[in-house]
Amino acid sequence: MAIDKKFIDHLIKVTSEAALASSYQIGKKDKIAADKAAVDSMRSNLNNFDIQGRIVIGEGELDEAPMLYIGEKLGTNKGPDLDIAVDPLEGTNFVANNLPGALSVIAIAEKNNLFKAPETYMEKISTNTNEKNLVDLDFSVKKNIFNLSEHLNKKPENLTACILDRPRHSEIIKELKKLKVKIKLITDGDVSGALLVTEEKYNVDIFLGIGGGPEGVLAATALDTFNCSFQGRFLFQTEQEKIRAKNMGINNLSKKYELNEIVSGDSIFCATGITSGDLVSGIKFDGNEFISETLVTHKSSGLKKVIKLKQKI
Ligand code: FBP
Repeated sequence: MAIDKKFIDHLIKVTSEAALASSYQIGKKDKIAADKAAVDSMRSNLNNFDIQGRIVIGEGELDEAPMLYIGEKLGTNKGPDLDIAVDPLEGTNFVANNLPGALSVIAIAEKNNLFKAPETYMEKISTNTNEKNLVDLDFSVKKNIFNLSEHLNKKPENLTACILDRPRHSEIIKELKKLKVKIKLITDGDVSGALLVTEEKYNVDIFLGIGGGPEGVLAATALDTFNCSFQGRFLFQTEQEKIRAKNMGINNLSKKYELNEIVSGDSIFCATGITSGDLVSGIKFDGNEFISETLVTHKSSGLKKVIKLKQKI
């Protein structure tokens, strides 16, 4: 069943107001306050909607997050049963230090259609085609680049790969350099990084590397509507993370998940800019109004566009 289009407007309100709330913390060097402002705003708006919502991706487990924790029920308890994934502030560093690329992000799907991802790292790969066996987490960097190069009819030196700038990626980066691929290193914000494969104007052919698992699920929701590929595999670092995952129902800890195992059925994704970045501009003010830009996708209607709004503060 399709999710009613009215939820698109609802969710744009949720992320744009969370972005506004967080924007007051831009450049204040306080990641916690910036996150809290977005969380508080998002939670209170979601609770006003006629939905039977359940957080599947949020601020963490109940013992570490009092708000928007995994399993929290949201809404008036009337209306459709929905899975909700949130990252009220994606890029805490960006807001705290007034850097480009901070977003407020939400995704919803029909109940039991969004992966309940644990708070752990995820190995990810994405590209702008959902052709099977083209790029794959199990292939070497070289094989992925050669396959993509052939498929796109572009030499490796004309391909661009986006990856988080982290020491854990030194081998991948070394390999990409050897293949003469252009590297777009991002300091944070791999929801946005993954979404750079969606349109030619961003000039990114492949996104890869290890980032947050929750961020992987959020990006996958939008990538699904763009008909892009995505694969993810969780990487557990501690015994406690493994136990938590098992309690969430994940039995095979080294499984490679395909996009349709992460999100299925209808979904809506919204990401509003807090500070300006590659995908959307940040919050701007005009008297007693604010202007927001939100990237919206809706699987069943095929909607995928940036919506600019001017609203009363
Ligand atoms: P926060 O907004 O929670 O700070 O996350 C930013 C982020 O860069 C994510 O986009 C990414 O998935 C993750 O952190 C990477 O984690 P790490 O900084 O530990 O490499």
